[in-house]
Amino acid sequence: MNIALIGFMGSGKTTIGKKLARQLGWTFLDSDILVQEKKKCTIPEIFAKNGEAYFRECERSVLIEVAKLKKVVLATGGGLPIGEKNWEILHRDFFTIYLKANFNELFLRINGDPIRPMLQKYPSQEQLKELYLNRLSWYEKAHVIIDTTQKKLERIIGEIIERASPICTNQN
Ligand code: S3P
Repeated sequence: MNIALIGFMGSGKTTIGKKLARQLGWTFLDSDILVQEKKKCTIPEIFAKNGEAYFRECERSVLIEVAKLKKVVLATGGGLPIGEKNWEILHRDFFTIYLKANFNELFLRINGDPIRPMLQKYPSQEQLKELYLNRLSWYEKAHVIIDTTQKKLERIIGEIIERASPICTNQN
């Protein structure tokens, strides 16, 4: 079993994932970094050269590879849990944790970030909010939902470890 952190851009998947993995003594992986290493290109370059659909294929093949491992905390890209095909893998091989935060807080964190091509695709706050709202039902399929709003990192990690303890202690 592995842990996958899911949620919208800016929800803290990478920061929380790194710290969580360290505390559990597990390996930390990040789907965006794995895609970039595999393709030897940055995410904005992949979007610009090959388009979003191609990026989604790369993301999926990385997910399939990580699913074969054990004791991994995977920080997923914000669009990875969108669609049944990826959820089949997520539900089978990962304990999934949705890091929930309200849109306004997320928007403040990600607004103007040049390394996030979805901000170019959805350039206004309203468009991005629509994307967020459309994705919620996919994120809410997670085994556990942790509300991160106004919480310190330590508290979020503590809540995750408490909720995930059956899978963290029962490894083989
Ligand atoms: C995306 C989120 C990004 C990255 C890509 C697409 C999305 O990851 O995978 O730019 O569709 O929400 P983060 O959620 O880590 O920013």
